[in-house]
Amino acid sequence: MKKVTTLKKAVFPVAGLGTRFLPATKAQPKEMLPVVDKPLIQYAVEEAYAAGIRHMIFVTGRNKRAIEDHFDTAYELETELEAAKKHHLLELVRSMNPGDMDFSYVRQPRSLGLGHAVLCAEHLVGDEPFAVLLADDLMVGKPPVLAQMAAKFEQIQHSILAVQEVPIEQTRRYGIVATEAAVDGLMKIKKMVEKPAPEVAPSRMGVAGRYILTPAVFRHIRNQPTGVGGEIQLTDGIAGLMAEEGVYAYQYTGKRYDCGSKEGFLEATVELALQHSEVGAYFRNYLENLQIGWSGRERRKQNLVALSD
Ligand code: UTP
Repeated sequence: MKKVTTLKKAVFPVAGLGTRFLPATKAQPKEMLPVVDKPLIQYAVEEAYAAGIRHMIFVTGRNKRAIEDHFDTAYELETELEAAKKHHLLELVRSMNPGDMDFSYVRQPRSLGLGHAVLCAEHLVGDEPFAVLLADDLMVGKPPVLAQMAAKFEQIQHSILAVQEVPIEQTRRYGIVATEAAVDGLMKIKKMVEKPAPEVAPSRMGVAGRYILTPAVFRHIRNQPTGVGGEIQLTDGIAGLMAEEGVYAYQYTGKRYDCGSKEGFLEATVELALQHSEVGAYFRNYLENLQIGWSGRERRKQNLVALSD
């Protein structure tokens, strides 16, 4: 019988330049930008943890300190909170590292592309399957999206990419896949094209920032010729892997916020704030009373007035 391997490691590439978020990202990684009260990277780490992963590997670049510090013990802060008997806050700070997680950091010396970033983690991943999470894609799902994928991986032991249907005019923003028909929620990928124009896109299935990959992908990333702008693309490595073994697409259940863009970041902030246990009710009330002309409440009120005239 084939040995079933469980996912134990996750790679978080956080070495991009984050140019779309300048000046906020001049001195800090964009993955430290908070949605309501939690940095993007923490949402991603929690998602990996919920999928049963305990070894978190960060591929960092310049300005790496903030991420390392975030997941480290904050001795002074904890001592102060303890002395002030602020137990709730102390628990919150400590909950970031429950003690059963390992954190490793490796540096990507230059932003040479996502494929290159993943390759930088090869010696820490070794010869086993691993997850890749792009923290600027904030995923909300029940169960969490990576946990859905990990359950599928247990069954098939092949690489799996999270996909979603994207508007045809947005294919240029995604890796787009052509697949065979779905069997048990998984679609075998026949072809993958990086950022195609709508006219040549093989489908509307776009790859989101969650991957489960077999270690053979490292060899394929390494063997890729350097692409546009000197970058080494993960998509090219996965295309190479496809020629050797099956790679599957999984249409996840949940919602993705593209927090690498200002629009997506704002959407995530508003929607997660509305669900937030502490500020949700206040924020809903605030939005409903905001005089910006387009509020649903305002429109409903106007409609009622029009009907009664
Ligand atoms: P993006 O292309 O979305 O991120 O990469 P970016 O380059 O930081 O952002 P913009 O376009 O300049 O605003 C997707 C993910 O891959 C990581 C990024 O940190 C991000 O999480 N990445 C990208 C690396 O770690 N290294 C790279 O060389 C490129």
